[in-house]
Amino acid sequence: MANTGPVPRPGILEITPYVPGDSTTVEGIAPIKLSSNETPLGPSPRALAAYRDAADALERYPDGSALALRQALAAQYGLNAERIVCGCGSDELINLLAHAYLGPGDEAVHSAHGFLMYRIATLSSGAKPVSAPEKDLTADVDAILARVTPDTKVVFLANPNNPTGTYLPQREVRRLHKGLPSQALLVLDAAYSEYVRRNDYEAGLELVATTENTVMTRTFSKIYGLAALRLGWAYCPAAIADVLQRVRGPFNVTAPSIAAGVAALADRAHLERAALHNAKWLPWVAAELEKLGLMVTPSVGNFLLIHFPAAAPKDAASADHMLRSCGIILRRVGAYGLPGALRMTIGTEDDNRKVVAALAAFMRRS
Ligand SMILES: Cc1ncc(COP(=O)(O)O)c(C=O)c1O
Repeated sequence: MANTGPVPRPGILEITPYVPGDSTTVEGIAPIKLSSNETPLGPSPRALAAYRDAADALERYPDGSALALRQALAAQYGLNAERIVCGCGSDELINLLAHAYLGPGDEAVHSAHGFLMYRIATLSSGAKPVSAPEKDLTADVDAILARVTPDTKVVFLANPNNPTGTYLPQREVRRLHKGLPSQALLVLDAAYSEYVRRNDYEAGLELVATTENTVMTRTFSKIYGLAALRLGWAYCPAAIADVLQRVRGPFNVTAPSIAAGVAALADRAHLERAALHNAKWLPWVAAELEKLGLMVTPSVGNFLLIHFPAAAPKDAASADHMLRSCGIILRRVGAYGLPGALRMTIGTEDDNRKVVAALAAFMRRS
């Protein structure tokens, strides 16, 4: 008999579910988890205290508009709080934007090795994902613009990008925006922006402030160390903020998350420590791995894409296997079309040294 059960809309069954960074390894070894771009410094103690204090009022619904957090973000960045929308991680905001601006017949462009959630959110909305090739594992503005058609409603750009760690300078992002038709929404995903130390980089605030079709998304999951709380925000033109307010759940951000987010924002010293730690260890790890003969894509984030020889026994799968046997978990990135690479999050000094030592032994073996 033919299957007469409920059928999801076209596109849904084309989605390969997102596989998060693994956290388990061989039994009896404490894992060194460097697979999800989490900060080795953890959250600000002030954020933790605010989170615990919020436990005294769990019977109350949160402020659905997250006003305290929006005001704190507005004060921090000099923004209009009315144009900030908070979400359950920036993932939720990416999904809400797709839900609101994409439907069957529409297209959304992303770069070839762009963050996987763009494709998933696009297919979930019944629209068609369009992949634009990259140059040197970096988004290519001309290639993206060449794929824009009258059906293009969204262009997603992670800047810096995960998993490559590469970025586009502000002038290139401006050029990208300038080449887009007004019906296309440019989503600038700046999840790792706090780590970037380049004069020619800008997270997206300027374009959002001066255009009607740019949104910037940000997260508390990365440098703020609050990934477990699921807290993100978007800065939008007024009309787009209004649309997101209509489609989001009425209480999409929890009260403990709002409290922790406000406290985390106030602790600038903690943020600076995390940025300095990364600024010290990212180049150190990259240089040590290059000394071993491994190719590392230049990164401005808190992670590195490490390329292994194509053939066994020194290929990425063998390296992953060996690292796991030492309790070290990096991220396989075959799902991003990069089967020959592993992505490593910058960890504590001890973690970083252990990875380098393990890979040195791996590269020495014949
Ligand atoms: C580029 C990029 N955007 C968004 C996210 C999602 O972050 P969140 O935890 O805020 O949902 C990630 C997380 O890995 C990411 O790498």
